[in-house]
Amino acid sequence: MSKNPIILGIETSCDETAVSIIQDHESGIPKILSNIVSSQVDIHKEFGGVVPELAARSHVEKINLIAKKTLDESNMRLENISAVAATAGPGLMICLSVGLNFGKALASSLNVPFIGVNHLEGHALSPKLHTNINYPYLLLLISGGHSQFLSVNGLGKYKRLGTTIDDALGEAFDKTAKLLGIEFPGGPKLEKFAERGDSNKFDLPKPIISKGGCNLSFAGLKTAILRITKNIKTEQEKYDLAASFQKTIEEILSIKSKIAFDEFLKINSVKKKSFVVAGGVAANNGIRKKLIQTSNNNNFEVIFPNPKLCGDNAAMIAMVGMEMFKLKKFNNLDFPVTPRLPLDKNAAFLKGAGIKL
Ligand code: KG4
Ligand code: ZN
Repeated sequence: MSKNPIILGIETSCDETAVSIIQDHESGIPKILSNIVSSQVDIHKEFGGVVPELAARSHVEKINLIAKKTLDESNMRLENISAVAATAGPGLMICLSVGLNFGKALASSLNVPFIGVNHLEGHALSPKLHTNINYPYLLLLISGGHSQFLSVNGLGKYKRLGTTIDDALGEAFDKTAKLLGIEFPGGPKLEKFAERGDSNKFDLPKPIISKGGCNLSFAGLKTAILRITKNIKTEQEKYDLAASFQKTIEEILSIKSKIAFDEFLKINSVKKKSFVVAGGVAANNGIRKKLIQTSNNNNFEVIFPNPKLCGDNAAMIAMVGMEMFKLKKFNNLDFPVTPRLPLDKNAAFLKGAGIKL
């Protein structure tokens, strides 16, 4: 057996049942031996959103099978696994419990270390599955539940520079898609809609664009879109609105990224300026193009995870597990499910009415 550690990762924080096996490599970039993501889209489609009880039930039904398939595909045997890493939070409590308990049981039966992983740290480290990146780096995390700029100074070492004060960006995409009549999950489909439209047709607001540093806000956009959709009559107008939304988001992220660059450089002195954009929304091609341009103009190297690693997956959980394993950071089997688990534990809670920016 190779002495390079092999980590089995498990992810069940929301509506994807995912298991992956990765192996450490001398290049510093681990090999993904297998990476299976079983999506529950068909289960939740008719409800227009994720139903936690149905999601948890489906995780229970599938986790064993997915783990077995992952193992078969990796050509490994259970005895080869060096440690088991599972998402402990943030996410839906009853969904997290399924993967975390499965992971604990597996680690215990194999007599190998167990590692509880922060899902957001999985996104933060996801491009390390194919690119060597040195700490510190600037991170823009844009997913269904989070939108944040963070300085990533090492494993478990995060300083939040900015966050959304209301909706997450993925949420804004999904809600806008719903208003345009696009079926769940709307985010990725909205981008396709936008390709057929004129992005200059509607002038949408850019909330808190000239205040609040690199904090973000998307709720005002959703309200504006709700108002416009009431008067929309043709399919073409829908495409135009989608295109205008897409363009507005690109501009907001570009302006706020420039502010984040400055804030990052104020607290870090680096030879190479790296900017990682991760999370489900990082799969958006328009956002990628715009942020490549913004980064080039500001001497930052922008790094995106491969599109397949942007959405929820267990390879990114195994990646965090790998770094923890190397530092011998293991957890006990009473490690709790933690539905709210920020990356920067010292950052103030910034949501709701009456926030002063
Ligand atoms: O990271 P992720 O898979 O799950 C969470 O941790 O939340 O992110 C899911 C979010 C959803 O809101 C989905 O609509 C959005 O990412 N998303 C996209 C695209 N692909 C996924 N939003 C915009 N454009 C895309 N291409
Ligand atoms: Zn996620």
